[in-house]
Amino acid sequence: MRVVLGVGAGIAAYKVCELLRLFTESGHQVRVVPTRDSLHFVGAATWQALSGEPVSTEVWEQAEDVPHVRIGQQADLVFVAPATADLLARAAAGLADDLLTNVLLTARCPVVFAPAMHTEMWQHPATAASVALLRDRGVIVLDPASGRLTGADSGPGRLPEPAELFQAALQVTRGRALADLAGRQVVVSAGGTREEIDPVRFIGNWSSGLQGYAIARAGACRGAKVTLVAANTGLPDPAGVSVVAVKSAAEMREAVVGAAEHADAIVMAAAVADYRPATRSETKLKKTGANPGPIELAENADILREISATRRLPGQVIVGFGAETADLLANGKAKLAAKGCDLIVMNQVGNGLAFGTADNEAEILGADGSRVFVPRGPKEVLAEVIWDLVAERLG
Ligand code: CTP
Repeated sequence: MRVVLGVGAGIAAYKVCELLRLFTESGHQVRVVPTRDSLHFVGAATWQALSGEPVSTEVWEQAEDVPHVRIGQQADLVFVAPATADLLARAAAGLADDLLTNVLLTARCPVVFAPAMHTEMWQHPATAASVALLRDRGVIVLDPASGRLTGADSGPGRLPEPAELFQAALQVTRGRALADLAGRQVVVSAGGTREEIDPVRFIGNWSSGLQGYAIARAGACRGAKVTLVAANTGLPDPAGVSVVAVKSAAEMREAVVGAAEHADAIVMAAAVADYRPATRSETKLKKTGANPGPIELAENADILREISATRRLPGQVIVGFGAETADLLANGKAKLAAKGCDLIVMNQVGNGLAFGTADNEAEILGADGSRVFVPRGPKEVLAEVIWDLVAERLG
């Protein structure tokens, strides 16, 4: 694909060199279009050498090629990182005072901004207004990550890691309906809960979190504000997603129920333990003496059933998951009825599918009697189908 990589004047431009390499090494053709001031951070020679393409900031160079029109028209994706407050404002206002803003006006392909700036600038009403206007027009503006900024301060404003930006870029080009979740708030749970026996042992499961992370990333790339409640995954935060880390089913319940209050859709992809040890030992259990005997279990709250029974917003769409080793359809129908959700994504466990793998295969059953089979393929593709079905139901 032909990618235009727009670079704004932020220190995080150095991370974009790595993003450029990820694009070119996977066979994409990249034209870097930096702003004039961004060259203070990374020079034109670096972009030229890494992309193998000419680099200019103005419309007046190589004017015989009419670059201010051609580059945007021929692009399959325009990805801007770091997007500064100034660049977001110029794009929102429709200015065309350099090559990049001209490209933004001529591009008809998906356009993604990955903002990075100090927290105060990101939260300023002027920047918020630019972002809202761009999102309203169908442009994808990823929320920045939270963490250490330039200098000693920290907060929202960091550029997500290059590998995550790359994944987001690929996901955007996979999505069928551009920005159809803009303005929606969604909650996704992922990973597997751990129920502590003592300070060093737990009862857990094999969930990797990969499917839930793919769903969260896809949601953000379709414009939704995504809260990802993640249990014990160890995976890097997806770009544009706000992550709440939890360990146990009780912590997951608190985070999901709280976030569900304002959510248009909730996707429970996490493997939540049905039971926990009835008591947790404060000290490590020792092997001395007699066999400690069976562990007594207490039942955990069923989060999916609870949020389905107590929907806070009319029209809220709730999606559950089920993993089975046999009788997928019969179990799916029973689970859909028992949980009271709108859709259930039934996975076959085993045979190189579901846990810890890149691929998945699923049968998605709807409370309205609908049935969609998603053949074996990347978890990112299943994520898109889930959002298609959610978007249809949101209307
Ligand atoms: N789930 C939940 N809270 C729990 C257990 C499960 O919210 N305490 C959710 C999961 O996130 C998933 C769905 O319920 O979306 C299916 O969970 P699963 O464990 O497969 O179903 P169970 O009802 O526990 O049935 P069984 O273990 O008998 O298959």
